Amino acid sequence: MEKFLDLISSEMKKAFEAAGYNPELGKVTFSNRPDLCEFQCNGAMAGAKQYHKAPIMVANEVAGKLENSTIFSEVTAVAPGFLNLKVTETFLKEYLQKMSDDDKFGLQMPESPKKIIVDYGGPNVAKPLHVGHLRPAIIGESIKRICRYAGHDVLGDIHLGDWGLQMGLIITEVKLREPDLVYFDESYQGEYPTEAPFTISELEEIYPTASAKSKEDADYKAQAMDATFKLQNGVRGYRALWKHILNVSVTDLKKNYDNLKVDFDLWKGESDVHDIIPAMVEDMKNGGYAYESDGAIVVDVKEETDTKEIPPCIILKSDGAALYNTTDLATIMDRMDKYAPDKMIYVTDKRQDLYFEQIFRCARKTGLVKPETELIHIGFGTMNGKDGKPFKTRDGGVMRLEMLLNDINEEMYRKIAENKTMNDKEAKETSEVVALSAVKYGDLSNQASKDYIFDVERFTSFEGDTGPYILYTIVRIKSILNKYSEQTNAQNITDGEIKSDAQKNVAIRDAVNESEKALMLEITKFNSVIEAAYEEVAPHRVCAYIYDLANAFNHFYHETKILSEQDETKKSGWIALLMLTRDILETCIDLLGFSAPERM
Ligand code: ARG
Repeated sequence: MEKFLDLISSEMKKAFEAAGYNPELGKVTFSNRPDLCEFQCNGAMAGAKQYHKAPIMVANEVAGKLENSTIFSEVTAVAPGFLNLKVTETFLKEYLQKMSDDDKFGLQMPESPKKIIVDYGGPNVAKPLHVGHLRPAIIGESIKRICRYAGHDVLGDIHLGDWGLQMGLIITEVKLREPDLVYFDESYQGEYPTEAPFTISELEEIYPTASAKSKEDADYKAQAMDATFKLQNGVRGYRALWKHILNVSVTDLKKNYDNLKVDFDLWKGESDVHDIIPAMVEDMKNGGYAYESDGAIVVDVKEETDTKEIPPCIILKSDGAALYNTTDLATIMDRMDKYAPDKMIYVTDKRQDLYFEQIFRCARKTGLVKPETELIHIGFGTMNGKDGKPFKTRDGGVMRLEMLLNDINEEMYRKIAENKTMNDKEAKETSEVVALSAVKYGDLSNQASKDYIFDVERFTSFEGDTGPYILYTIVRIKSILNKYSEQTNAQNITDGEIKSDAQKNVAIRDAVNESEKALMLEITKFNSVIEAAYEEVAPHRVCAYIYDLANAFNHFYHETKILSEQDETKKSGWIALLMLTRDILETCIDLLGFSAPERM
């Protein structure tokens, strides 16, 4: 469906043309003075210069051409030459009716959908998720959902850190503790056990222990490097043990991401590209891109227009080992080969801005991607505590994600349990749903690149620009709709059977008051907001929209006695409007990665 602003702009353009002016002057925008008008057009001001006339004259002539418009109910030329506009109730209603008939509320689908890979999450196996993993998960998930809703073919890839020294460290520590395990018997030829020799909690203790030891003990570190080398070169027992680390860890990661309503289509990791690295490096050398510098293999990526120093991209270290860069580049190559994406979006901390700039340049220069392949890095800011410093536990440690979520669930439960009509089980379940909205909305409502303060009190509040406020609004609408069904069904019952579904027989009607019209106008923005959120890769656009929409609804609700309205047609029109509002709000929160309870 054409966007509402485009539709009314084209009506305005026709009027400019009919009055003898350049139609391009007829661009209409939402009014920044909603007390005066709904929309405005400032084209007469620009036109006046072009045509050497007083702006008000141009405005008056254009207004004259719109006297019989079925789109504008009011076109007022005001000094010095603005056009203040209102749209007709009927035109607005028809637009909304078309929106409700469309399964994506009028969002235009792309002619040729793009293949998009969203690379987000990026946890390292064998390490518990901590608060630092919250933002990539939340933002990436929402970006994935927005791209998909916008009609594209999208894959989310977790890009696990599952290779390299951290694996060697774990293997070394396991070997030290249980040297007799079959994995370390190099002459062993049989099948390896299917059961892992450790649990997730043991693994989570093993890794930090090993990591700490390697920092103090050079010999231990050397053993870990040797284990890494053996693993990467395919020593059977090491590979088998590594598979166990991976499985145990991934099972736990899945559980944690599930709690966050975050899921991935691809559970690929750095290890998946190990085997294609040598060929990639060879190609880069043969192409004349990669060369030796101080023993390392590098690709220059600086450009003439750079205003800051962009260091070369290191492909292999001087000892021949692959690094973070190498696996990311090989992953790009692998993705192009397997999925041929048109676009890859990476969601990581913004401190990796320079890193991705290097990677993207290197990938382009060496021909890993096509010239038209879009490579986008969404670098997010830091999540801070109330003291303005990176979020920590009370004793200054790194907080586990589970702990953080437990805390906020509890806070939410405290608030929700005050509602005495719910039993404890429902209160618990509802708290979790609402708490997730608090965390996700609190994060996503900020522009991703900005730092923000994780403020449990503010985020869990039912008032203000928060997730719970949005959910509260949805629940309020649902409750009115349920009551309406009860009322109407009671009237409709014949022989104990409900004749028809009350909510199916309603249609949106012309707005009868200002708050209703304001709500309707807010609804029309849906397709342009989603389009912008997709194009700018910006979930905060969706948050800003639903906050305005929720406010517009609540204003209408306070001004209007919906259920006690005697005029049935009027009432059913409102019900249709409520249903559309609910559907749009629920669609939007789904794009943000959370959902609403039935009551709260
Ligand atoms: N595992 C990495 C880390 O812990 C993050 C991975 C981000 N994604 C990527 N494609 N580099 O820092």
